[in-house]
Amino acid sequence: MDFRGAHIISVQQFERPDVERIFAVADSMEPFARRTQVSKALDGAILGNMFFEPSTRTRVSFGCAFNMLGGAVRETAEIGASSITKGESLYDTARVISGYSDVIVMRHPRTGSVAEFATASRVPVINGGDGVNEHPSQALLDLYTIRKELESQQAGIDGMRIGMVGDLKHGRTVHSLSRLLLLYRNIRFNLISPRQLRMPGEIVAELRAAGHSVNETEDMAEGLHDNDTVYLTRIQEERFESRLEADLYRGRFRLNRAIYTRHCQPNTVIMHPLPRDTRAGANELDEDLNQHPNLAIFRQTDNGVLVRMALFALVLDVVEAVARQARAANWFTGRRFD
Ligand code: NCD
Repeated sequence: MDFRGAHIISVQQFERPDVERIFAVADSMEPFARRTQVSKALDGAILGNMFFEPSTRTRVSFGCAFNMLGGAVRETAEIGASSITKGESLYDTARVISGYSDVIVMRHPRTGSVAEFATASRVPVINGGDGVNEHPSQALLDLYTIRKELESQQAGIDGMRIGMVGDLKHGRTVHSLSRLLLLYRNIRFNLISPRQLRMPGEIVAELRAAGHSVNETEDMAEGLHDNDTVYLTRIQEERFESRLEADLYRGRFRLNRAIYTRHCQPNTVIMHPLPRDTRAGANELDEDLNQHPNLAIFRQTDNGVLVRMALFALVLDVVEAVARQARAANWFTGRRFD
């Protein structure tokens, strides 16, 4: 695809070479994210970072990624603090904000909202999550992480086995990651969830039609035993009618050190898009795994900056300029990366 000026709304707009291009550009962003080099390639550019749903990582890492390329960030972080609560349409908001920004990242609770917003925007729009539907930058950073983790085990994405655990019905991260994996070959999916929270049928059908094998189960032990990667998710409480309804499912599928040691292969990479729900009744990914070398959750968050820098560099067409204008950082930087 031609990235220059493009909206990034869904993983379904990518071909495999597009994903490889994003990953190659993400690799080239490492010195900037590690703070050994500084770029001013986006000097003067403005990101409109519009989050109409709660977010920590996605909002801050998109903002940081833009700053690391030399651009400035303007944020709307609360639906209550914006004119949407006064009845303003997405169309009007898009027309207005796109007059103030060079690129927009948007998160919104409704499926299709970001696509609708993009049609009215005068600048490129990147989907930071539209309801239960998609979260393309998360899927890219997840796959980028999987690729790196498996590479260190001399394995690749084609032919891998992935366990997805938890609220697969409402989790937009697993929807986008599954659809991104349609571009790869011969993947084995172990989908572990309560029956009521299964992966949407149309996604399962797409996976099977692409030649992947899909095993859906409610049995944690059975689903866990044969994976290169296991991807835990939080019960998406905000998508349920009530907290009580979410409570029916919370805490049913958990990974901790004992369960991992008993049921997973010794090399299985442990992932989670975060936030993990650490409350006693939930705890889908126990903190007793924090020191485990296969726990990749903070490598995921670090990789998120690289992937988001790559998206900005491609969409705003500064990949070459970033390389050309790089200079050394002026300050002491002792930040550690795993
Ligand atoms: C996820 C999301 O918002 O979909 N978080 C994130 O962006 N890393 C997952 C979640 O909230 O459970």
